[in-house]
This record gives sequence, C-alpha cells and structure tokens, in this order.
Amino acid sequence: MSTISNSIQKAVALLDQDQIIGIPTETVYGLAGNIYSPKAIESIFTMKQRPFFNPLIVHIKSAAALSEIARDIPEKAALLAKAFWPGPLTLVLKKQIAIPDLVTGGKDTVAVRVPNHPVILALLNQLAYPLAAPSANPFGSISPTTATHVADYFEEVLPMVLDGGACQRGIESTIIGFENGEPILYRLGSLAVEDIEAVVGPVKMITHDDIAPVAPGMLSKHYAPLTTTFLTADVKKKLIPFSDQKIGVVVFQNKVNDPKIVQQEVLSPTGNLAEAASQLYAALHRLDHCNLDCIIAERFPDFGLGKTINDRLKRATQK
Ligand code: TXA
Ligand code: MG
Repeated sequence: MSTISNSIQKAVALLDQDQIIGIPTETVYGLAGNIYSPKAIESIFTMKQRPFFNPLIVHIKSAAALSEIARDIPEKAALLAKAFWPGPLTLVLKKQIAIPDLVTGGKDTVAVRVPNHPVILALLNQLAYPLAAPSANPFGSISPTTATHVADYFEEVLPMVLDGGACQRGIESTIIGFENGEPILYRLGSLAVEDIEAVVGPVKMITHDDIAPVAPGMLSKHYAPLTTTFLTADVKKKLIPFSDQKIGVVVFQNKVNDPKIVQQEVLSPTGNLAEAASQLYAALHRLDHCNLDCIIAERFPDFGLGKTINDRLKRATQK
C-alpha cells in the first residue's frame, strides 16, 4: 500500500472515531470532522476558538451528493455547481432537515462545496458522511496553505494533518448565496466573480459587512497577520516617513528598491493574478515570522482575483 493510501486509511479511522484532522484542499487547509458527529463539530469550534454562530462549510464528494445536504436548489445554483465543481466555489442553499444546527449555526441554510484536491476527494470517497471543515487557523488569523502552517497552529492538539502539498489556489473558496433564485456574493475568493457572472449573469454584491454579516467570514477583522499591516497604492511613498524600522513588503510584480525593506515578497514576477493569489498567505505567514515593525502591502489591480487579494489585504490591515 502506498504511503498516501496508508494516511487516508488512518484519517478514515480517526474521523470514524469522532476525531478531527487537518486536510488539504485546493484553496486552504481545513480542520475536518464528520458533520453528523456533535463531538467532532464541537471540537472544531473549540480548537478554532470560533463562535458557534459562525457556520461551517460542508464538503461533499460530488455534485450528485448535493441532494443529501440541500433542497429547493435554484436553477442558477445548479448551473454554477455544474460549471465549477469540483472547485473553489461554495454555495449557500436551503438545508436538508438532517443537517445539524451545530454545523449551520442554527441557520436554515447550509454552505456546501465539492473541493478539488485528489487527497480530500480520495478521503471523501472512503467516508460514509460529508466533512465539515473551516480553514485550519485560529479565528481571525491567516489561513494555512501548507501542512506545516496547520502544524504550527495546532500541532499539540491535532492527531493528524494529511499532507497534500502547497494549496494550488491559496485563498478560500468564493461564497455565493441566493435571494429569489438570484446569486449574491457572500465572500470574495479563489473563483473570480467575472467567471461566475459568465455563467449566471450579474451577481449582487454585499458591501455593508460590518453590521450583520451574512457570512461571518466577512467580519472585517479576519485573515490578519500579528504584525501591523498597511495597504497602499504606492509602496515607495508609504516608506518615506519610516526610519530605523524593520519593514516587510508585499508587492504584485515589481520589486521595490529601498534599504528600509528587510524582507520583500514579490507574489508574481510575471504579473499573473492566480499565481499571486496562490502565494499571498504563505508570504504573509513568512513576513509574520520575521519580527518586523510593520508590513506594507501594495494594492492590486481591482479586477478578477486582484479584487479578492485586495479584500484579504484590507482585512489584514484591521486590528
Ligand atoms: O476554501 C474554503 O472555503 C475553506 C476550505 C477548507 O474549504 N473553508 C473555509 O471555511 O474557508 P471557513 O469556515 O473559514 O469559512 C466559511 C465561511 C464563513 O465565513 C461562514 O460564515 C460562511 O462560510 N458560511 C457558512 N455557512 C453559511 C451560511 N449558512 N450562510 C452564510 N454564510 C455561511
Ligand atoms: Mg476561515
């Protein structure tokens, strides 16, 4: 038996015993448990220090399994599932009665997706139940895109992290909900809104996220490094007032030359937004370990995945 199938067998055994484990997906690593095990779901919330009102995403093995989870599926939701699953798109739909309140935060809707990573798909195919999995980071901190990031956060308390390599997408899934059958964006993510609109037409945006966020992942303080972070259109100019400080920089394509910079992360030298997105969290994790006085991030082009990157950088600046 190969090592990976050994690991999957071990993962199945742990999950069958109501334990939770770290799992790879194409977006970010997750903390996964059996959706029907109250013990497992409670440990996810406890381990993440996440408030119970903030619901989890249910991961299923294929679109065919959707009817077990959700009902009254709008036509546009079915079109999106067909176009993008397996992939980085989460749909918020009316839940089936059997889906526990603990998973949905007491809501009558459920967030669901089919992840696109060979390891978690192989795992889901061996299980008799779907997996609830939030990103594998303590509430509010940077999401993990490698098994090492997960171990750094949870080594002491997690019995296992399935290693699937660095996440190919590197930012969470895009979340779409529905109102009268029409799509609404709940969270920007790894699937560009333009790609979604190409399939179902205009997607309504929610902008006032601070009063009563529909998806608590849109709470403004989220995805934050511990180091104070600034977002600017002009890194060079932002650096001017600083002196004698250790500064880290995140830029899209072009390196900034300035002696004040002690660590610089160029996310895509070729100017590829998908590549930049895949590198963003790993870069923030590295910068956060450099003992810097602050991080200065460059604003990205405001379209496609650039919008998603700007959203995460903006949240990274909030304390
Ligand atoms: O890429 C991803 O989506 C990753 C991987 C592991 O799949 N998961 C992830 O989960 O980002 P988490 O828990 O960090 O974010 C889930 C988001 C939260 O913002 C939550 O509020 C929202 O989904 N959500 C879950 N159920 C919801 C519902 N019924 N209505 C509205 N928002 C919901
Ligand atoms: Mg998260």
